[in-house]
Amino acid sequence: MRKTTLFILLLLTLLRLAVPGPGQAGEQDAGAMKGIPASVAADYIYSVIQANRAIYSEVIVERLGFAISLKATERWRVEKTLPLPAQFLLLSSQVSEKKNVGMTYRLMSLWPINPRNSPKDDKERLGLEKVVESPDKPYRLTLSTGTGLYHKSIYPDIAVTKACVTCHNQHPKTIKNTFKLGDVMGGIAIKIPVRKDIKDPISDEFLVPPEVVADYIHSVLESDRTVYTEYVVNRLQRENIVYASEHWWEDNALMLPAQFLLNASDLMSAGSLNLDFKLISTWPINPHNGPANEFERKALDQVAKKPFRPYNMVHTIGGKNYFQAVYPDFAVSPACVTCHNQHPKSPKRDFALNDVMGGIVMTFPLNP
Ligand code: HEC
Ligand code: HEC
Repeated sequence: MRKTTLFILLLLTLLRLAVPGPGQAGEQDAGAMKGIPASVAADYIYSVIQANRAIYSEVIVERLGFAISLKATERWRVEKTLPLPAQFLLLSSQVSEKKNVGMTYRLMSLWPINPRNSPKDDKERLGLEKVVESPDKPYRLTLSTGTGLYHKSIYPDIAVTKACVTCHNQHPKTIKNTFKLGDVMGGIAIKIPVRKDIKDPISDEFLVPPEVVADYIHSVLESDRTVYTEYVVNRLQRENIVYASEHWWEDNALMLPAQFLLNASDLMSAGSLNLDFKLISTWPINPHNGPANEFERKALDQVAKKPFRPYNMVHTIGGKNYFQAVYPDFAVSPACVTCHNQHPKSPKRDFALNDVMGGIVMTFPLNP
């Protein structure tokens, strides 16, 4: 299952070898680093959105449609079905926006089914026209608005399956019915606040502090997992339609929220960006998810004691700097508590609601 295992183990082994210990040479205060280019931050965020969308479309929607005839439909709330992938992304972007991290994302098109998904201004319209013309690269722009300065990256959204084409072409509200497989149907826009005084002197690109980039990525991960837990797992379980199971692939079931996150991580590390994340705990059901080194042990301890901020660190491996952030993972719903406390392999049986159950570890290179 875990294609990343080798990569993670390799990285951790390197970390163990390279890091003499907390506070000594080889580690730096994360605040000392100016940041990574806004375009790279946008690429990270985009890759997490895409990985989660791929898991949702392929492993949830397509597989369950085939296995138990559970479909994704526009009126999912009344029809007791799965939300469409576009609706999943919209829900997630709304959850993320409520966290007020500053970064926002949305799906849009020059030919939208829902007029709300039209470009908001001439710059967005131009960006969409550009990615239709050259879908091999995102279109980047800088925006100055009443609320400040922003970097925006617009990525093409491509008709990767027949279903995209058929559904859009046949939809009663579509304004274009000639989409073909491989066409650019729209775009995903990611908007990041930047400051005019934080720039790379050589490339002249805006820089975003690494701990802020980590907050953005964490916000997408959390929002997607929340939407999956609330609007897919909890809702369909309440309706007695389908259940979450650890052995989802055998049982034609929904994967667990932790597996949703871990599968996305597997997909990501198959890519080329070197962004990696995983879920760990001092009391893991799966021993593979225990802390792998002194840094992770200490980080878990810290986020359990002070769950307001992530625990951040910069590691130097072979002359390359890696930023690592560990975020607390809370028991946000009674299901987290019940399942872990009752699981035969759980080493801890007295979790309570809102406890810190573990941590999300995120790693990406500085100076990418
Ligand atoms: C079963 C029908 C269906 C399928 C399959 C589907 N879509 Fe959509 N799509 C919709 C609907 C309905 C909306 C409008 C959702 C809303 O109200 O915001 C939408 C929205 C969108 C939007 C935002 C612009 C708009 O049209 O409102 C894009 C871009 C998009 N889809 C691309 C895709 C791509 C790419 C795929 C395949 C990977 C796909 N869609 C698969 C029905 C579908
Ligand atoms: C229906 C059972 C179930 C539910 C509900 C559930 N989990 Fe888990 N969780 C598991 C299992 C099983 C694993 C081990 C997955 C693996 O093999 O990597 C796991 C893994 C984890 C891990 C990694 C450490 C470990 O125990 O292996 C964390 C942290 C975690 N879950 C937190 C949560 C949180 C927070 C929630 C609620 C949002 C939640 N879980 C909901 C069963 C569950």
